[in-house]
Amino acid sequence: MRFLNKRALVTGGASGIGRAVAERFVAEGAAVAISDLNGEAARALVEELCARGARVTAVIGDVSQLHDAERMVGEAVAFLGGLDILINNAGIETIGSVTTARDEEWERQIAVNLNGVYRMSRFAIPEIIRAGGGAVVNIASVGGLVAVREFSAYGASKAAVIQLTRSMAADYAQYGIRVNCVCPGPVDTPLLERACRRVSGDKSPEQIRQMYADFTLLKRIARPEEIASCVAFLASDEASYVTGAALVVDGGFTAQ
Ligand SMILES: NC(=O)c1ccc[n+]([C@@H]2O[C@H](COP(=O)([O-])OP(=O)(O)OC[C@H]3O[C@@H](n4cnc5c(N)ncnc54)[C@H](O)[C@@H]3O)[C@@H](O)[C@H]2O)c1
Repeated sequence: MRFLNKRALVTGGASGIGRAVAERFVAEGAAVAISDLNGEAARALVEELCARGARVTAVIGDVSQLHDAERMVGEAVAFLGGLDILINNAGIETIGSVTTARDEEWERQIAVNLNGVYRMSRFAIPEIIRAGGGAVVNIASVGGLVAVREFSAYGASKAAVIQLTRSMAADYAQYGIRVNCVCPGPVDTPLLERACRRVSGDKSPEQIRQMYADFTLLKRIARPEEIASCVAFLASDEASYVTGAALVVDGGFTAQ
């Protein structure tokens, strides 16, 4: 029970990695606010977790919008009675190079993946300071470390998240807040499924999926739970001397 009496806010918590993180935190004793744009999915998950006896709520909105971010943090704090942990996980993936991606796709990619981290942190960090310190974990990507063709906006947004993580670690260490990020490789979630369908070209989505698996040393795509366990580590006291780090969880994708 690493998170007994801890209060966590997980963005994009209704699906994929965020959902696995929310479930892991609940299993380890945390009270959790699940923030998501998809109200139906978030409320369904909350209902499921409440039935298992968890203390959870849904806060619905768009992390890229200033007023939504402020309101969601406010609602989470009102329900939880404070905040110790923020997981900035909400993200989208746009396909395209700088010459093929549309302007509005570039804007939306940066708005959600980068500005969303900034906006949620902006409102959540004062609450974590009020609680006497805690942890922030941002979900970046190996796409922020190495170049993947046709992922220019995504890669740029994730590289920025890695650097923002370091800046936040420097700014809030004095308040007892550790800030780290996780850089996953390919993970079996609806986001990856959608990417496989869109990238395909002359290859089938199954072939693209296999290609992602083959890129890794372990020759498989990760389960969301395998990312959630690393997020839980970074958010817990077991990582008490870890801050400003980018933990690569990619089955060896970037080791070769
Ligand atoms: N799946 C992968 O292979 C992979 C690899 C590396 C990094 N990541 C990162 O992990 C994070 C989670 O991805 P996932 O694969 O679980 O995706 P997913 O699509 O399964 O889940 C993302 C969740 O975020 C929510 N969301 C999207 N935009 C939002 C917004 N503007 N405001 C609030 N909520 C929003 C969605 O409704 C969804 O519930 C993302 O940041 C993604 O970039 C994923």
